[in-house]
Amino acid sequence: MTRFPLGVLPTPLVRADRLRDARGGGPLWFKRDDLTGFGVAGNKVRALEHLLGDARARGVDVLVTGGGPDSNFVAAAAQAARVAELDCELVVWGDVGETTNLALARNAGARIHPLGSDDRARVDAEVERLGAELARRGRRPLAVPRGGSTPVGATGFAAAAHEVVEQWSDAPPTVVIPVGSGGSVAGLLAGLAGTGWPVLGASVSRPPEEITAKVLALAGETAALAGTAPPSGEQLTMLDARGPGFGVASPADRAAADLVLRTEGVLLDDTYGAKAAAVAMEHVGADPTRPTLLWLTGGLVSALSHVSEVRGYSPEFRSRTPEGAP
Ligand SMILES: Cc1ncc(COP(=O)(O)O)c(C=O)c1O
Repeated sequence: MTRFPLGVLPTPLVRADRLRDARGGGPLWFKRDDLTGFGVAGNKVRALEHLLGDARARGVDVLVTGGGPDSNFVAAAAQAARVAELDCELVVWGDVGETTNLALARNAGARIHPLGSDDRARVDAEVERLGAELARRGRRPLAVPRGGSTPVGATGFAAAAHEVVEQWSDAPPTVVIPVGSGGSVAGLLAGLAGTGWPVLGASVSRPPEEITAKVLALAGETAALAGTAPPSGEQLTMLDARGPGFGVASPADRAAADLVLRTEGVLLDDTYGAKAAAVAMEHVGADPTRPTLLWLTGGLVSALSHVSEVRGYSPEFRSRTPEGAP
């Protein structure tokens, strides 16, 4: 499959010893996909490299996709399309006021089509409809569902699995990863088939049973596309990490993110990173001999917006800062 290179890969694999010392338990590692180095795409650059590679190989001239107003994928897709010299049309649900991610998408030249409703489940159908309309008008569109979660997109994460297996030298880990649309974890499962590495998914937006079915189907299709061994559903445990709601961290999520920031200096977003970190923190204590590999996925835009809100550490910081200090 043709890959259109966008990111700075491989991303670093680092040991988080200060976090482990603070938390106790087995060895802790971070896979730093927050450092993929393409815009603010985080993990999504891996899917986009394969989607854009496939699009260019097939002579596509416009990428059609969509998501929510705060979607990291929407901004990343627009930027990737721009770099690959394709037009980009985005269907966006909800309030399409000026969020940072939509501003980035517009800045990359994407055209926004407001769905005019909060019904996010309708986005993919509207993406298909818009793609068909563009084709009727003589364009060569590629319609991609939310999150880029197709077998082609998930191939990027199957490659990420091979990347980390190559980097790994410790005892077999448990991999913890946040799960939204499911494409990343599906690719990971496809790429980890046969390794026996257990994967813990932290589902942030859908009930575990619903997303597990989608992930296993997509993982199977991804492996079939690559001609590799079918993934085993037994490797995957999906946990309900929705907590108070999509994009809203529970006190435990917040505490996990703050601990990661204070010990390792890594900023996590409330939507994905904090929730996966909370799952990892809970898991680490369970078996001190088994390493835990927390997959960091980015989400810098929302991480920064959370920092600018009043957080637990802000009053503490202010109380140590003299009045009028620069
Ligand atoms: C920062 C971040 N982490 C994790 C995810 C989840 O990835 P997936 O949708 O492939 O499950 C997303 C999805 O957009 C994301 O933006």
